[in-house]
Amino acid sequence: MSEIDSLKAQLQALQEKALALFADAADLKALQALRVAYLGKKGELTSVLKGVGKLPPQDRPVIGQFVNATKNALAEALDKAESLLASKEKEARIDAERIDVTLSGRTSTPGALHPVQQGLHEMTAIFSQMGFALAEGPEIEDEFHNFDALNIPAEHPARANHDTFFFDIEGTADTKLLRTHTSPVQIRAMQACVDAGGEPPLAVVAAGRVYRCDYDVTHSPMFHQVEVFKVDKDVSLAHLKGVLQHFLSAYFEKDVPIRLRPHYFPFTEPSAEVDIGCVFCNHKGCRICKGSGWIEVLGSGMIHPNVLKAVGIDSSIYSGFAFGLGVERLVMLKHGIPDLRLFFENDVRFLRRMGAK
Ligand code: PHE
Repeated sequence: MSEIDSLKAQLQALQEKALALFADAADLKALQALRVAYLGKKGELTSVLKGVGKLPPQDRPVIGQFVNATKNALAEALDKAESLLASKEKEARIDAERIDVTLSGRTSTPGALHPVQQGLHEMTAIFSQMGFALAEGPEIEDEFHNFDALNIPAEHPARANHDTFFFDIEGTADTKLLRTHTSPVQIRAMQACVDAGGEPPLAVVAAGRVYRCDYDVTHSPMFHQVEVFKVDKDVSLAHLKGVLQHFLSAYFEKDVPIRLRPHYFPFTEPSAEVDIGCVFCNHKGCRICKGSGWIEVLGSGMIHPNVLKAVGIDSSIYSGFAFGLGVERLVMLKHGIPDLRLFFENDVRFLRRMGAK
């Protein structure tokens, strides 16, 4: 074979091999490496070109043309393969970045009121709608407001029943306590009225934390009460019963039967515990109401004349009713919550279930 034919054959073989490799290149990077390997300064084509120098001068243009054609063919094939790979890579990227608009979005969990606060708001709202004014009192109380003015004198056995947290205030002879019930707000609200030169009628609802040294499935050392009272001329037990009936039906969102059962509280006379028809068995009798069909929900009564006297309201002109209820207890009954402690553990699974309104 002549020198020129051998070179032509080499170029031919080089071109075939190169085209096959270009077509197989996996990605743009591999293709770029092939471009350098074939067309680069130290590439395959250059090394073939070195053989051209050995040819007789008259043959050089012939092979020169052939080399150029090969070079062009390789360059063209490289460009084609390159644009093909580029568009493939672009497609793959678009595919990977595709947004599935049918997927549900990321949800954020909004905060919610604690179930006790929620219940407390529901309850006070019902009384507000009935015309009772909101009042507040301190959680750190004194013996006068928590006990004495409520007709519970120092030697009274009821005082011992209150499981009170007492403490001394440094530098004073005062004994303070954490209020054991919201009834001291009755005293404060009536005093405020009298001190301002006012007179009944007075219709008040107060809600807040109370404390008793007691802890088990149904008792927590801190819990919440709602206190309601009304003082006016000719207030009777019938008014008390009417307000209770309306409130309990509104809160439980159904007509619940109620009954007043005689009881004793030092600050009311007569006093009654209030039962509702069991909300779990619809008053038929079940495990929760111990077969009786009734569940006790709150304490109530007609304000004792001694209480009115303690704040300077004339009990021969005015009378009143009062009641106090446990917020946690009512929320438990409304939502079928079995254990009081759930309210204070702050397990988010419980809070989410209760908060999702
Ligand atoms: N203060 C009472 C208690 O905590 C409840 C109550 C309030 C009873 C008002 C009668 C009148 O148990």
